[in-house]
Amino acid sequence: MLDKPMPNIGLDLQRIHRVITRGLAVALENCQVFVASGFPDDATREGFWKYCQGLEANLHAHHLTEDDLFFPLVCDRMPGTDFQTLLDEHQELLVYLGELKAAREAGSAADAQRALARMDVVWQAHMAKEEAAFSPEIMARVMTVAEHIEMAQQAAAHSQAHAQPAPLSVPFLLYNLEGADRDFYLGAMPAEVTQQLVPIAWKDEWATMKPFLLE
Ligand SMILES: [Fe+2]
Ligand SMILES: [Fe+2]
Repeated sequence: MLDKPMPNIGLDLQRIHRVITRGLAVALENCQVFVASGFPDDATREGFWKYCQGLEANLHAHHLTEDDLFFPLVCDRMPGTDFQTLLDEHQELLVYLGELKAAREAGSAADAQRALARMDVVWQAHMAKEEAAFSPEIMARVMTVAEHIEMAQQAAAHSQAHAQPAPLSVPFLLYNLEGADRDFYLGAMPAEVTQQLVPIAWKDEWATMKPFLLE
């Protein structure tokens, strides 16, 4: 019989990082095309800006979860980890998130491209640093099983509260992942969200993002 995998914050971090990494890559890649050739139609334009909004919401919520919950819990136990630099990088990313939001609100693909490119450079280095410092093996030693479970619950509630608007941020989260990663979130979210809101009540709101999402 296969054991159910132990809950582990290191794995949870890698999973949400994959959402953001794909989101950034897809947004940047498409933005370059739209800067060069314009938006092919209004639906694509709308979907692209909504996709950027979903990215902003998920990245910001992830940082808040680390700043407010995860880092405070583990920082005293990990004296060799430079938490201040990680916090500073969150602040730097926040500046670029503000630039992306302003570009989105102004409808400027060129400004969005600049913000996304800056964000991508900081993000790649930041994510690599975190995944080395907070690998599943390390986190299994630093936190108890009960703490992993509790942190996962607190993090889910915290990011639900901050990743807004949910009709864009939740489909963005689910459909920038596939396979076991998507199944993990489908299993963790309330059935009302996965069976009613995303596929029915919120469907029209996020439909134009589909060309940028995974099937
Ligand atoms: Fe992170
Ligand atoms: Fe971070």
